[in-house]
Amino acid sequence: MSHFSYKNGALCAENVPLADIARQFGTPAYVYSKAALLENYAAYADTCKLHGPEKSPALVCFAVKSNSNLAVLNLLARQGAGFDIVSGGELQRVLAAGGDPKKVIFSGVGKTADDIRLALTHGILCFNVESEAELHHLNEIAGKMGQPAPISFRVNPDVDAKTHPYISTGLQENKFGIPFPDVLACYRKAAMLPNIRVLGIDCHIGSQLLDDKPLLDALDKMIDLVDRLNHEGYNLQHLDIGGGLGIAYNNEQPVKVQDYVQRLYAKVNHWRLHKYQGRPIKIIFEPGRSIVGNAGLLLTEVQYLKPTPTKNFAVVDAAMNDLMRPALYDAWHRVQPVKESGARKLVWDVVGPVCETGDWLAHDRELALSQGDLLAVMSAGAYGMTMASNYNSRPRVAEVMVDGDRVHLIRKREQVADLFALESLLP
Ligand code: LLP
Repeated sequence: MSHFSYKNGALCAENVPLADIARQFGTPAYVYSKAALLENYAAYADTCKLHGPEKSPALVCFAVKSNSNLAVLNLLARQGAGFDIVSGGELQRVLAAGGDPKKVIFSGVGKTADDIRLALTHGILCFNVESEAELHHLNEIAGKMGQPAPISFRVNPDVDAKTHPYISTGLQENKFGIPFPDVLACYRKAAMLPNIRVLGIDCHIGSQLLDDKPLLDALDKMIDLVDRLNHEGYNLQHLDIGGGLGIAYNNEQPVKVQDYVQRLYAKVNHWRLHKYQGRPIKIIFEPGRSIVGNAGLLLTEVQYLKPTPTKNFAVVDAAMNDLMRPALYDAWHRVQPVKESGARKLVWDVVGPVCETGDWLAHDRELALSQGDLLAVMSAGAYGMTMASNYNSRPRVAEVMVDGDRVHLIRKREQVADLFALESLLP
């Protein structure tokens, strides 16, 4: 169910009218629903419990890059979530939010020495290694620290995720992962290194996947690798299938999390029983968008209406620096009026105040608008705030989380002084 709905003509987050939030915290603001977050996390965790083996429970590692607010991370940590990180900064956020480092996996093609040291110091669960050069770097640092590095190789399974080319990662031509034909050789090399402990295997093929077929195809290829590795004497403890499930921004019909997880376990359980001698293997998921995407919106106010001979522009106070997805991926986000109105609708482009033609949030939307109206840009909980910038010296917006009747400020609006606090004049 949606936790953002109209009550007596007023769009609400759970039980709180968004207009009240705008009055109290100003606009623009990101607004999240706690219930939506919990529900989306439970869709993974509960289905895993239902279909996964008791002996090796799954681990749901929330992809921190999709939303790294401490309150969001803390809420998920309290449910038992692990975390998928891509930088030392994300690790520090997880720790500050009370996350368990033993449930952290570290992805990314360019881990720095500092990041690696920090992760080893905190004893994270696993590094997802993406190249041979990284493997050797890890081995060297782990050796100096006297602490072996637990690893998986991120496999590039060469399956087409059929999503936007910028967020497709599992094709041969993408920069991610170890090319499929080289994977066994990499494991053999890893086994020779004194400071590396081989733990699992990993892949992530892309994001905003509406169908689970590419994920299940990737799973087949991964299972095949686990078997082959097993014949060579490797006893992997986990198989990380990555994240990537999509959400409905418009009228797409993404596969339900529960159906995907169930189908995944049908394959895994069948293989374990019939080919893998019933040995346990932990399944790890790295979802981001499917947990937080539809649990958040961007609340904005119409500043000016600017009808022109060719187009009607509604200039709002949120911009591409606050929500970059439309400018970067041509992404479509639903725009809803905060107050339902029976007034005549016109077709509007919803644009921000930033000095770029690419600064738009929505094109050609039928809306009844007046200056000062509030609008909600929906499905903005994932890759919204985390991709925000200060372009045009615009302070990043406030974030609030609604819990039933209550509203919590979870990130104060930045002040302009914050933006130049680290700068200094020449002597
Ligand atoms: N694991 C790895 C290694 C990843 O690279 C990603 C996302 C995830 C997990 C989480 O994927 P999700 O479940 O959220 O699809 N900024 C883009 C999305 C970039 C995704 C990058 N990797 C957007 O706004 O659509």
